[in-house]
Amino acid sequence: FEQSEDNLRSPICCIMGHVDAGKTKLLDCIRGTNVQGGEAGGITQQIGATYLPAEKIRERTKPDATLKVPGLLVIDTPGHESFANLRSRGSGLCDIAILVVDIKCGLEQQTIESLNLLKMQNTKFIIALNKVDRLFGWKKCPNAPIKKALKQQSEDVLNEFNIRLTQIITQFKEQGLNRELYYTSKKMGETFSIVPTSAISGEGIPDLLLLLVQWTQKTMVEKLTYSNEVQCTVLEVKVVEGHGTTIDVIFVNGVLHEGDQIVGPIVTTIRALLTPHPMEELRVKGTYLRHNEVTASMVIKITAKGLQHAIAGTSLYVVRPDHDLEDVKEAAMADMKAVMRRIDRSGEGVYVQASTLGSLEALLHFLMSPDVNIPIGGIGIGPVHKKDVMKAGVMLEKKREYATILAFDVVVSQEAAELAKAVNVKIFSADVIFHLKRKFEAYIDELKE
Ligand code: GTP
Ligand code: MG
Ligand code: NA
Repeated sequence: FEQSEDNLRSPICCIMGHVDAGKTKLLDCIRGTNVQGGEAGGITQQIGATYLPAEKIRERTKPDATLKVPGLLVIDTPGHESFANLRSRGSGLCDIAILVVDIKCGLEQQTIESLNLLKMQNTKFIIALNKVDRLFGWKKCPNAPIKKALKQQSEDVLNEFNIRLTQIITQFKEQGLNRELYYTSKKMGETFSIVPTSAISGEGIPDLLLLLVQWTQKTMVEKLTYSNEVQCTVLEVKVVEGHGTTIDVIFVNGVLHEGDQIVGPIVTTIRALLTPHPMEELRVKGTYLRHNEVTASMVIKITAKGLQHAIAGTSLYVVRPDHDLEDVKEAAMADMKAVMRRIDRSGEGVYVQASTLGSLEALLHFLMSPDVNIPIGGIGIGPVHKKDVMKAGVMLEKKREYATILAFDVVVSQEAAELAKAVNVKIFSADVIFHLKRKFEAYIDELKE
């Protein structure tokens, strides 16, 4: 492929930051959706992905904006501390990031964690200084460019804005970063990358989108040029009614076709290439568009035989006529082993069960973290059935407190619940990951008494 500004794939942009800084809400504002309102506990617990086509970006910026990229693929990540693995996975996939900072809170623990991830991966990022509408006395100017909105504000509001901005700039300096408001210089680049925003009334959203597009298409031409090598990562393995087990993938570069042979780690053939509609969040159930061919970047749902053996976090490889299948298989196995080493546990401990591999991985990561430290004896994916209760029951004779199932975001079948009651296996269910810890610890305390 020819490397030029006229032959670019969509940049991938990851949204990161502390819990409740407004990452999902910013995306809602851009999409015109309310995904955040539907989240359990108001927190994000999975990686999300949305494709924003260039024409939609133009509608939110200005009609004469020069957009050379076909669109933007935006990845939403959770800010809660338990999801460090998902932040790491999300940021590992992106070309550029938005670091969301709550203007009233400044830099917080996961802001700094995200910052360190971005530094480590050498990823450039824009800072969205969010929730400006919460400055006392803010006059809303829906969807206005930020300079225009600031012009409408009283002196008191501008004073508070400036004080908070200066404090946050100092906090960035303490992290070794020199950052300023983006419009204080015509020079595009890391220094001038702070964009004040409101996810509720939309001030600064045009600025944010325009800066993202202009910065990537101007400075990342090499990285964003189409490649013949397919680059693709599995986000989730999911059962979807009518499609069987499917995989959601972040398709970073290349071209995919229906009928392509894929490896990762199973060898199979793509039956259907499906995408959510543009501007719609992958995490939200909806209808899909079917394609014969998809060019990167994109979020895709792939249907094929044998996908129940695919593993979140691994790469997907495409076998082209000039490839040796055995070589491709070997590369895919190496990836899988690395992930399995992290999640495959056996021994004394509780049985944990989650809805998808991605959420299971997050749950295990949380339970195994030093300050939680709950031992894991077995793992499962999908609804809790009798067989899972039987597996957890193995612990009854060894350590009674571990004869427990921690069920994250899954249903417990009637028979499983009855069996658990009969044999004295405890099942704790929650759709917020850290509630499982609380329930389990309360149970341990109760046993001790
Ligand atoms: P996690 O994904 O759980 O880490 O949170 P998040 O960063 O995605 O934040 P989220 O979008 O869930 O927003 C958290 C809360 O802040 C919600 O109640 C939002 O309505 C509110 N919020 C987000 N952005 C703004 C904003 O610009 N202004 C105001 N007033 N509220 C906001
Ligand atoms: Mg969120
Ligand atoms: Na939240």
